[in-house]
Amino acid sequence: MRSIVQFSAVSRLYGSRRALENVDLTLEPGELAFLVGPSGAGKTTLLKLINREIRPSSGEVWVAGFAAHQLKKSRVAQLRRRVGVVFQDYKLLPRLNAMENVAFGLQVGDLRISEDEARDRSLDALEAVGLGDRAGALPHQLSGGQQQRVAVARAVVAQPPLLIADEPTGNLDLETAWGIMDLFEDIAAWGTAVLVATHNVEIVTRLQRRVLTLVDGRLVRDQPAGQTGRMAWLATS
Ligand SMILES: Nc1ncnc2c1ncn2[C@@H]1O[C@H](COP(=O)(O)OP(=O)(O)OP(=O)(O)O)[C@@H](O)[C@H]1O
Ligand SMILES: [Mg+2]
Repeated sequence: MRSIVQFSAVSRLYGSRRALENVDLTLEPGELAFLVGPSGAGKTTLLKLINREIRPSSGEVWVAGFAAHQLKKSRVAQLRRRVGVVFQDYKLLPRLNAMENVAFGLQVGDLRISEDEARDRSLDALEAVGLGDRAGALPHQLSGGQQQRVAVARAVVAQPPLLIADEPTGNLDLETAWGIMDLFEDIAAWGTAVLVATHNVEIVTRLQRRVLTLVDGRLVRDQPAGQTGRMAWLATS
């Protein structure tokens, strides 16, 4: 099977600061993996490379068959359609209701669908994250956990093969965070690969999924699912 993400000898500098150094990794379709490590380790940088927000200083980044490391600006939208993104602070549009925010996820890239279909698919996605009855609510009328559910629905409504999430539970209490992680497990079970950067040790330890550990820009550990032991990086985070 073809990997959905492949990094080959990837380094990324910001000026003279090395944020990632010689990273090799692959992520397979439908795989759920956590990306952990102390603050400043390079987690956000790695996710931004996948989404072609930035390009590597050296090495190759392949995402869903696209050479993200050399992708032309004009083709970035095609890549983005295949990569759903979830952020810590939800990033919903405040004047659009939940359904309209989700429909926004269908407006990226080369997808062409009618308004009616966009509405139907958005309502289906809201249903799938347990918010079928709040489609008309504005973001400020929803709790943090509900807003993040809307953001997850927006990220997956176009059925991308890959979802990346940067500290998606960073603003949520543990119980609410579990609800979001359950959604990610469902999404992976449907066949979308999911890569989640997180500091939430309790969740990472309990879920026993694959764990990639970055320290000072280096991928120092890649623990397969079921072998998540003590989080050594905790001592330095
Ligand atoms: N735009 C930038 N300009 C300069 N340096 C940057 C920039 N973005 C990140 N860095 C540096 O690159 C390194 C990696 O940062 P990154 O944001 O990827 O870490 P992180 O693992 O996501 O940390 P956190 O857990 O705090 O979110 C850090 O040393 C950071 O200061
Ligand atoms: Mg970060």
